[in-house]
Amino acid sequence: MRKRVKYLVWLMAVLLLVGCQQKPKVGFLMDTLTIERWKKDKALFEEKVHELGGIPFVEVADSDPDMQLKQAQKLIDEGIEVLVIIPVDLQKAGEIVKLAHRNYIPVISYDRLIKDCMLDYYIATDNIHIGELQADYLTKIKPKGKYALIGGATTDNNAYLLHLGWMNVLQPFIEKGDIEIVVNEFSRYWLPDEAYQILTAYMSENSDIDAIICGNDALASGAIMALREYEKDGRVLVAGQDADIQAVRNIVSGSQTITIYKPIESLAFAAANAAIKISDGEAPSNMNITVNNGKRLVPAILLQAQVVNRQNIKMTVISEGYLGEKEIYN
Ligand code: GAL
Repeated sequence: MRKRVKYLVWLMAVLLLVGCQQKPKVGFLMDTLTIERWKKDKALFEEKVHELGGIPFVEVADSDPDMQLKQAQKLIDEGIEVLVIIPVDLQKAGEIVKLAHRNYIPVISYDRLIKDCMLDYYIATDNIHIGELQADYLTKIKPKGKYALIGGATTDNNAYLLHLGWMNVLQPFIEKGDIEIVVNEFSRYWLPDEAYQILTAYMSENSDIDAIICGNDALASGAIMALREYEKDGRVLVAGQDADIQAVRNIVSGSQTITIYKPIESLAFAAANAAIKISDGEAPSNMNITVNNGKRLVPAILLQAQVVNRQNIKMTVISEGYLGEKEIYN
């Protein structure tokens, strides 16, 4: 009898081990968790990888590209079969791609493109279109006036794509002389204080401003802080991105005009799906376009985002379960 029990325990241990070994290990390198949306990306990505039978291995670089390279090595040492990465730095992350390839590990760039390298896949939102949506919305309300552009991090390709989108819409207004760009700056980390500094530097000398387009909601919140100091809160149009809870509250109160809601669930699920397929030795599905990263045409999925204004909060972020009605309105 004791022999039988021993045998069963041994068998269970072996099965458990085999089971674990078969589970694909998926690496997920993140830039930061300081900005609200990334916590959601993380939770959704982990949930989906687990659901698909994989094990996620997550590291957060706290905006340090060298740290991210070390974390890539760590995950490789831990035996990941595929790497999903939100690059801290659009250029330096190319080293991570090389490192992964030396270890036969394919790389999916998540939400941000890695430039000038043999990147395998790119899953993101259409950032030029997001920039166009923001500028389009504000110019419909104010086709004439003084505009401030506060861009995202210079180390992030998205910052440039958004700016391109803004200019696609603004250029004809500028050429007609209807819109003047009075501030045109990028930030270093996409953070509120940077936008606050940029805008106060302008407003300490000029109080004239009609609209501010920001790369994300964190920057928008800094811009609103500056507007408050100059008693302009609610009198200047402000566009952000990410549908952060405070931004949506600011839309309700009238301090912010719009934000952009990215389909983060679809993004995280698409990346998890692709990662598991790759680790199963299959080609990921739905890579239906390619994006030029300067070195190759990277197979990609580009999802669409939508504008959130005061009228459609319920039909967008609430109905999709992204934010709760109570947390917004209480
Ligand atoms: C960008 C992303 C934005 C924003 C920002 C800050 O790459 O497109 O949605 O979250 O990072 O981390």
